[in-house]
Amino acid sequence: MKIDFNNVDLSNLNSYKEKSLDAFSSLMNKDGEGNDFLGWIDRPNNLDMEEYERIKKASKKIQNNSDCLVTIGIGGSYLGTKAVDYAMKGYFPKNDKTELIYAGHQISGEYLHELLDYLKEKEFSINVISKSGTTTEPAIAFRFVKELLEEKYGKEEARERIFVTTDRQKGALKDLANKEGYETFVVPDDIGGRFSVISAVGLLPLCVAGIDIDKFVAGFKKGIENYTVDSFEENKAIQYAAIRNMLNEDGKDLEVLVNYEPKLKYVSEWWKQLFAESEGKDGKGIFPVSVNNTTDLHSVGQMIQEGKRNLFETVLKVESANKDLTIMEDEENLDDLNYLAGKKMSFVNEKAMEGTIIAHVKGNVPNILLTIDDVSAESLGELFYFFEIVVGVSGYMLGVNPFNQPGVEEYKSQMFKLLGKPGY
Ligand code: PA5
Repeated sequence: MKIDFNNVDLSNLNSYKEKSLDAFSSLMNKDGEGNDFLGWIDRPNNLDMEEYERIKKASKKIQNNSDCLVTIGIGGSYLGTKAVDYAMKGYFPKNDKTELIYAGHQISGEYLHELLDYLKEKEFSINVISKSGTTTEPAIAFRFVKELLEEKYGKEEARERIFVTTDRQKGALKDLANKEGYETFVVPDDIGGRFSVISAVGLLPLCVAGIDIDKFVAGFKKGIENYTVDSFEENKAIQYAAIRNMLNEDGKDLEVLVNYEPKLKYVSEWWKQLFAESEGKDGKGIFPVSVNNTTDLHSVGQMIQEGKRNLFETVLKVESANKDLTIMEDEENLDDLNYLAGKKMSFVNEKAMEGTIIAHVKGNVPNILLTIDDVSAESLGELFYFFEIVVGVSGYMLGVNPFNQPGVEEYKSQMFKLLGKPGY
């Protein structure tokens, strides 16, 4: 992974160096706010190997008896898995693998209705994921999908097809799993939802989807090697956090994550949750948005080029495409495209990216370029770990606790009041 800050004015950066190093040392020494949620920092080197082997065993069982695994969860209990699954499964996947189907990540009755219809024809299992075990969206979805599963297979076999990932000891889901005898996996106490893809939360469904979780974990370990180094000069995660804060204080309070490979769309969704829930509190935070280019150059690209000058971009570039095509010569050239004959699609895409960067930098949008080697489990693991360190350092620099999300409760209590939930 490479990161380049050539298109940012760094003349002021020195004044952010000390603050970023202080924030980094609070994170590493675990003496800052939210320090009871820092288990993710060492987790890649500290996996519960007994559980890790159970994950692989359960995955084989699911792959052998199911066309689909219904993965029920929301926020951090869903986005990391979706990001890697979507990036890795290919644009037009063949139906020879167990497919991950998502539920409980919204409250659409229409979605759930169609999902239940779809599942009627399929062999399926369920992985319900909720750290608290009480989140409304997954709880409703689980009720419906479990009912169908029990109808289809009977209560005994359904029990063998339900896998619960939740708190080690407490919560409604844990109680239900104990009562029904479902196999359970743990969301560690000291890892918050949006940092939990490295736990059973992500590893079980990803393994079922055929992703090499050893390689995914190896990517996280590479992240530890590269981004826990206590040096401003050597650690790009500290530099990036410092630069984000410098830009923010200069009025650039909106960060756009840009990709040119549509399969990275949900990596951006995962990233948005990570940064928004971690930084957006106490009236502070850099608002994270994302675009998928070149598609969005024909929509919000106008806004980025000439709208309010309060944004900066981080471009996620993929060094080598897994597949490519060469543009052919056409005798008639009616489309005037022969100037591209012999050029690879990846070359054209790269020039679109480079041209856009030049245009946006000219338009006063500072640009950070983050290059991953390829779209692979290992590269994504390293990228995730990088962003997690960045958000920890950046959040501490902003002066917020990056590891809680108190604001999420407000919509819940308003919704519960309207729904007539007892106690609201
Ligand atoms: O990052 C977080 O902690 C949140 O986004 C949670 O993951 C999300 O609210 C889901 O919570 P739970 O896993 O308890 O159902």
